[in-house]
Amino acid sequence: MAVEENFDLAHLGAIELYTPRFEESLHFFRDICAMREVERIGDSAYLRCWDEYQRYSLKLTASDTNGVGRTLLRTTSEDALSRRVAAIERTGLGHGWRDPEVGVGRSYEFEDPDGHLMALYYDTEHYVPDDTDRPALKNQASAFPGSGINARRIDHINYLASDVTAAGEFWSDVMMSRESERVRLDEGGYAARWFRFHQKSYDVVYSGDWTGERGRFHHFAFSPDSREDILRAADICLENDIFIEYGPYKHAINQTFFLYVWEPGGNRIEFANAQARLLLDPDWPVVEWSEAERAKGQAWGMKTVPTFHTHGTPYVENQEEIDRAAMEGRH
Ligand SMILES: [Fe+2]
Repeated sequence: MAVEENFDLAHLGAIELYTPRFEESLHFFRDICAMREVERIGDSAYLRCWDEYQRYSLKLTASDTNGVGRTLLRTTSEDALSRRVAAIERTGLGHGWRDPEVGVGRSYEFEDPDGHLMALYYDTEHYVPDDTDRPALKNQASAFPGSGINARRIDHINYLASDVTAAGEFWSDVMMSRESERVRLDEGGYAARWFRFHQKSYDVVYSGDWTGERGRFHHFAFSPDSREDILRAADICLENDIFIEYGPYKHAINQTFFLYVWEPGGNRIEFANAQARLLLDPDWPVVEWSEAERAKGQAWGMKTVPTFHTHGTPYVENQEEIDRAAMEGRH
């Protein structure tokens, strides 16, 4: 049965993404996805989607590598923040409180069992549109851009993990999120696990990292409005020389319609339409898939592309050759 603490997390707040090709990555997120840059500090640009109520959701940071930096997660209240911080402190994974920064008040920094850096916060800064992006309707954060992919909001994040079982226990027992679906390995343990904070079927996902490395990144997803927008996103990526890895197609797990691309910095980005299917039952049981069921492919039968299992960031040694071999069926 769901308990009150299952509702302590509100949503994914912001993601820091590293890129070795900052200007090209910025062009992708700002001009192709139609995010708005709201702040520039040092090597980082802060960007937001048009329907997000907070100041920013993506911190894009120039780096000598790619991969994910710190993930910010908003709680539903100050009390919820206190409860989750107390639970994290009992695990020994807490780093401590951090001072207010761009867009958010004080936050509590920690790492997951796989070493991904995260922080919880409740105090946030609501975005105030200026004359150039003031919306027509007062119940919208900023004007619809009407350009490029028109990414509406950040939807979910998918980490790679050396130990998916340990990561899953942390999200079930410490973060108190609810698991919607998972893939069980024949030999025991899990290939991937999906967790939700509310009625959307997932917010945080863990997939096994074949390299055994800790702390790597698989992808994060934007949510456009509709399936049609995802088809259009594929056309726009094609025109702009953005590598399309997989899709548009429909997932079997959680049934989202998807498109996966690699942004110029090499990080995988998804466009996923998650609104159609909601899990309204607070006690909805975990749906478990076997390896044999997964081998049947995605919803309509298309097989998963090999690079989906090899490509992650930051790159491991020979990552590009490993991905090439996977594409050519040599891996
Ligand atoms: Fe995804």
